[in-house]
Order: sequence, then C-alpha cells, then structure tokens
Amino acid sequence: MRRDALRCWAVLVAVMAPSVAEDFPWTKNNPGSFYYGTFPAGFLWGVGSSAYQTEGAWDRDGKGPSIWDAFSHSQGRVLGNETGDSACDGYYRVKDDIQLLKELKVNHYLLSISWPRIMPTGIKAEQLNEKGIQFYNDTINSLLENNITPIVSLYHWDLPQALQEKYGGWQNISMINYFNDYANLCFEKFGDRVKHWITFSNPWVMAEQGYETGEHAPGLKLGGCGAYKAAHHIIKTHAKVWHSYNSTWRREQRGMVGISLTSAWGEPVDPHSQTDRDAAERYIQFHLGWFANPIYRGDYPEVMKNYVGKKSAQQGLGTSRLPTFSVQEKTYIKGTSDFLGIGHFTTRYVLQKSFPFLQVSSYHTDPDLAELVDPSWPAPGPKWLYSVPWGFRRLLNFIKTQYGNPLIYVTENGVSETMQCSQLCDEWRIQYLKGYINEILKALNDGVNVKGYTAWSLLDKFEWNKGFSERFGLYHIDFKNKNKPRYPKASVDYYKKIISANGFPNPREVMSAANFDFFFSFMCKYHIEFQETTYSLITHMEMVTEIVLPTVFTLCILISIVLLIFYLRNHS
Ligand SMILES: *[C@@H]1O[C@H](CO)[C@@H](O)[C@H](O)[C@H]1NC(C)=O
Ligand SMILES: *[C@@H]1O[C@H](CO)[C@@H](O)[C@H](O)[C@H]1NC(C)=O
Ligand SMILES: *[C@@H]1O[C@H](CO)[C@@H](O)[C@H](O)[C@H]1NC(C)=O
Ligand SMILES: *[C@@H]1O[C@H](CO)[C@@H](O)[C@H](O)[C@H]1NC(C)=O
Repeated sequence: MRRDALRCWAVLVAVMAPSVAEDFPWTKNNPGSFYYGTFPAGFLWGVGSSAYQTEGAWDRDGKGPSIWDAFSHSQGRVLGNETGDSACDGYYRVKDDIQLLKELKVNHYLLSISWPRIMPTGIKAEQLNEKGIQFYNDTINSLLENNITPIVSLYHWDLPQALQEKYGGWQNISMINYFNDYANLCFEKFGDRVKHWITFSNPWVMAEQGYETGEHAPGLKLGGCGAYKAAHHIIKTHAKVWHSYNSTWRREQRGMVGISLTSAWGEPVDPHSQTDRDAAERYIQFHLGWFANPIYRGDYPEVMKNYVGKKSAQQGLGTSRLPTFSVQEKTYIKGTSDFLGIGHFTTRYVLQKSFPFLQVSSYHTDPDLAELVDPSWPAPGPKWLYSVPWGFRRLLNFIKTQYGNPLIYVTENGVSETMQCSQLCDEWRIQYLKGYINEILKALNDGVNVKGYTAWSLLDKFEWNKGFSERFGLYHIDFKNKNKPRYPKASVDYYKKIISANGFPNPREVMSAANFDFFFSFMCKYHIEFQETTYSLITHMEMVTEIVLPTVFTLCILISIVLLIFYLRNHS
C-alpha cells in the first residue's frame, strides 16, 4: 500500500518534472501607460557590435578569410556590392571606440571575436594567428582598464571560409569539434578576464538566411532542409562548448556561458480565437523555441516536430526534414545555458494560413501561418522593423513561463534608419529606446529575470546584405570619409540620461527628456549639412536652452521686480 503510494508519487514527479512551463496568458495584453521607475541596482547597461560589421582589416595581420569576405566579394550578393573590407576600421580604432563607451558611461560592451582572425583556417591544429589573439587580448584589457565589462560572443556569423569550402560549413557535423577547439582556445587565452560568454549570436539568421534563403553567407538555398540541419549542428555545438566550459574552465574562471537568440514577438490577430493563438505560438516556437526549447527543455518544440513531420510525410519523404536528437543528446543539451541572451526588434500579428503541401518544401511554409502588421505601427527605418514596444514585454513573459524564468541579458535591441542623408537628430530612435526599455521595466515588475540591456548598436556599421544602407548606430559614421569619423546622434544623450538615472525615475526627469526630443525635432526641420561643426552646434544649442534661456528668464524677473519697486515707491 505504502509502496504503491510511493510509486504513484514517483510517477507523478516524473510526469511533472519535464514541464517547467506554465501557460502563457495569451488573452491578457494590457500594454498600459508609461511606467515611471528605476531598474534594480546593479542592472547592466551597455551597447553592442560584432566583428565583421565593424573591424574591417579583413586580410590584415594574418587574418584568414571568412564566409562573409567571400560572400561580399562575389558581386550581386550585397546591396551596391558593398563589403566589410574596411567597415568602421574598428580594428585600428579600439582606443577611440572605448572613448565613446566612456562617454556613454556604459557598464558593458558586447563584442564578437572573429574566428578566422585567430585561426585563419578555422582549425586549431593547422594555424594560430598570434597577432589576432593579441588584438582581442589588448581590446579586452583596455575595456577592463576603463571599468567596462566585456561580454564576448564567439560567433557572429563569420565562419572561416576554409571550413565552408572543405566541409560545407554548418551542414557538416565536423563543425562541432572545430568550433569547440576554437572556443576552448578563447577560454584559455581570455577566460581569466572574460566572465560572460555567448556561444552564438542569433543562430536563427545563420541557419535561415545562410542555408534556406541564401540572402546571407554562405548563400546556399537548401530549401526546407538546410536550415534545420545547420541549426541542429549549431545546437549540438553550443551544448558541447557549454560542457567544455563546465568541466574544464568553470571552477577556475567562474564565468557564465549562454547563447543569444533573436526573436520577434508573434501576437494572435484575435487572442480569443484558439486557431490564432495556436498560430502565434507556432510563430514563436519556429523562431525562439527552435533553439531555446532543446536548451531549456531537451527537445525541439512539439509543434515544430508535428508540423515539419506532417509536411515531410505529405511530400512523400520517409523521415522528417527536422532532424531528431537521441535520448543521450537530449540529456546532454538540456540545461546548457547559464543565461539567455535575447535580441529583439519587432512584432507581428499572426494567423493560421494553410499552404498546399505539394509546393516546394520550405521552412517558411512549414508552420502554416501568415504574418501581418498594423499599418499604424511606426516603421522609422526598414520595412521589417516596426516599433511595437509592448511586444517585448510579451516576449519576455513568454520566456519566463516556458523556460523556467531564466536569467536574461538583452543582447540586441535597437532601430535603424534607411535615409541616405545622414541625420544626427534621430528622434525616432529616442522614442524607440524609450518605449522598449520601459517595457523591460514592466516585465521586471511581472517577475521576469532581466539583468542587463544592450542597445544595438554602438556604431553605424556594415549591415550584411544591406551593405551600409541601414544604420543602427548611436554614433553616425561618415563611411565616404577614409578616416571613418564618428559623430554622436541625439540618442547618445538620451541613452546616457537613462543610464545615469538607471531608468525613468520620475515624471520631471522624463519631461526634461521630452523637451529634449522636441528640441531635436526642431533641429531636424533645418536640414543641417552634416559636418564636423554639427556637434559643436548641438553643444551650442544645448547651451542656449540650458544656460542662456534660464539666465534671460531670471534677468527678466529681476528687472520686473526692480520696476515694480520703483512703481510702488512713486505711488506711495
Ligand atoms: C553589382 O554587381 C552586379 C553583378 O556583377 C552588377 O550587375 C551590379 O550592377 C553591381 N551593382 C553596383 C551598384 O555596382
Ligand atoms: C593578455 O593580457 C594579459 C593581461 O594583461 C596578459 O597576462 C597575457 O600575457 C596577455 N596574453 C597575450 C597572448 O598577450
Ligand atoms: C562533411 O565533411 C566530410 C569531410 O570533408 C565529407 O566527407 C562529408 O561528406 C561532409 N558531409 C556533409 C554532409 O557535407
Ligand atoms: C558541471 O560541472 C560540475 C563540476 O565539475 C559537475 O558537478 C556537474 O555535474 C557538471 N554539470 C553537468 C550538467 O554536466
């Protein structure tokens, strides 16, 4: 009897244990109004960048070519055939860029290491590039000397080209060991000082744009299979690197290893319709869950397995196009993230849409859904990036319910502009940051465990297949000028204010920020030619509001008082 009860209990525990997930409250979306408040003490504020987008020096000091060098050098791949050959010249401008970070007073800087810069062919046994190691070592030391915590991503899309040519890149399982060797070298060389490691930045893009649509390097169009296979190897690689760190380095170095996943939020068109809710959930599972579910719960999301499996069968395939993990692999992968990096930019409305199953197999038709946008959402930059701040709070709450409330660092959040003419008065970016950061604050109050925020990005930089046509920077770069001068946009001052106040402490603080917005929108009416002088002009105009106006005002009052006294005397 007692034994039966015990067995019953054991079964119950076994059934309950894997389901860390709570239900996400789909129907409760109350964005509410602006929330005044500050972030918890110790909240990390920072900015980010990535190697290929900023460093330039693509073939200098022993660096090997990456898939992005090869991709951008082949004509017709990148808008305007632009390349990252020199980008922001970040390789030569580390000291200058650290000055910008100091100016912003950030706590951390998120950067990525270029694998082929320290291993030219990607294979440790073949070649190490001491100059590349020295470069990152010096960069990390300079950041620390300035009290800026480095958060280091091991991979932001620039695979050594040799590995692509020899093995087919992420299609090949051999990447796991090559990447693990590379990661271990980084832990060995830099891990005494770097305590926050990201294995992969936004692997969704690596898989989907690299191997499904071919819009990104290596430019392969392996519809319906390639992305799933690449992702499968990436997830296994991530797990292997986490285990390497855990068994070899953690005890001594005491750092954290996580992954950075970027996902939009998918909101059901009608949250009261089960069909729409299911479609929205599939949207998120096919983006975020694809990577997060194996890492936090041990396998691909059920809906992903069901849908890709069903479609594969309809297409007459013997096995699903979505690979499977063995039981051992599931156990090995589950729990391999000390924190979850989250990149987030925008939101979509989602509804169910069936695709005829005879059509070519594609990751995009597998989930049977359609994405919509609300035309009233502001889209200041490119046509994919609508500003929908409340979507961020929803996404963060979804993560909390699905993955057991993990420790989160926001690793990418920001907005770009597409105007060819350079504008320093980036009022829309100020509004975007204000809205999105405020929603993080609301999510914190909902109990989400966010510990840091990274604005994306420090500089305007090479935007992959969009070349230099999209600008995400808080600092503007004049790319036509060979010195690549950096200029602060208005958002620099706004972000500085948020950092120094650690949030939005009271209405008065925000009011002055609002005046600030108004001030810059006023400036925007005049098409200020973009030149060196602009910054001093901004400083000058700030002086006008902050010193001259109050002074004139005070003088007026004093004069009135004197006149009043005279008037009263003459009449008494
Ligand atoms: C880029 O290269 C392609 C292919 O050679 C060519 O057709 C196109 O005109 C080039 N574009 C520019 C802006 O040079
Ligand atoms: C990296 O910097 C650390 C700290 O200054 C130093 O001890 C180490 O020797 C450097 N390593 C390399 C490869 O320069
Ligand atoms: C992986 O690389 C090996 C060695 O080059 C090769 O034999 C194998 O066919 C590759 N596998 C795939 C799936 O490309
Ligand atoms: C991580 O390392 C510790 C110490 O070596 C070990 O006890 C623990 O089992 C490891 N965790 C996993 C999941 O392997």
